[in-house]
Amino acid sequence: MGDRNLEAIPERKEQFYEGKAKKLYATSNPDLIIQYFKDDATAFNAKKRGTIEDKGVMNNRMSELFFTMLEQHGVKTHFVRRIDDRQMLCKRLDIVPVETVVRNIVAGSLAKRLGRQEGETLKHPFVEFYYKSDPLDDPLIYPEHAVAFGWATEAELAEIRKMALRVNELLTGFLDKRGVLLVDFKLEFGRHHGEILLGDEICPDTCRFWDKETRQKLDKDRFRRDLGGVEEAYHEMLRRVEG
Ligand code: TMP
Repeated sequence: MGDRNLEAIPERKEQFYEGKAKKLYATSNPDLIIQYFKDDATAFNAKKRGTIEDKGVMNNRMSELFFTMLEQHGVKTHFVRRIDDRQMLCKRLDIVPVETVVRNIVAGSLAKRLGRQEGETLKHPFVEFYYKSDPLDDPLIYPEHAVAFGWATEAELAEIRKMALRVNELLTGFLDKRGVLLVDFKLEFGRHHGEILLGDEICPDTCRFWDKETRQKLDKDRFRRDLGGVEEAYHEMLRRVEG
């Protein structure tokens, strides 16, 4: 007893949300939901679509490993346990509609927006906020926008920023030992009984991972940029994270 894996799994009920990569189901416990991980891959706000074979299985497992490591170091997450290959039991969140990005090395939209070379190491990591809105293509915002429109309070944003930087420290150290550079990543947070918890998933869809020696991309940029070797990169990342 006391073993998480022996905890009773509540019954899966109706689907209440379908996103680009996951479906969410209610359960017989109003405090818990099930995240179902799909193989569907999209990029550029779903203007590009495809599938990555077994992506759902790999992202579910990788997220489990990352969330478990973070919880062991005191970061509060929505993760309860992995149920099977594609399903994860999570605490139900009232999602803050702000995507939190942490960057260590210049890449992606930052390189484009400010005309910087991809691969430039930043003097220090920083946090950016984006408004979670498909019709608007998730625009970059100031934290003041989130407060003024009531998406989050100032105290919640301060907590989110602090947690995001702590996650960055922990993930960077964990991945460094496995020969991986953490370039940048996106997190989502939500409220659960008055507390801010880390939600969503942590995987090659939501992070940029580069091999430390060769700087080879081991993440969804292989799909976004048609670089080939997409499945292989996900498998390689899972292998390294499993240690
Ligand atoms: P960006 O450079 O395109 O702004 O992406 C920053 C990080 O956020 C990168 O690790 C990929 C991740 N990301 C998502 O998880 N979802 C998204 O919709 C986008 C645009 C980026």
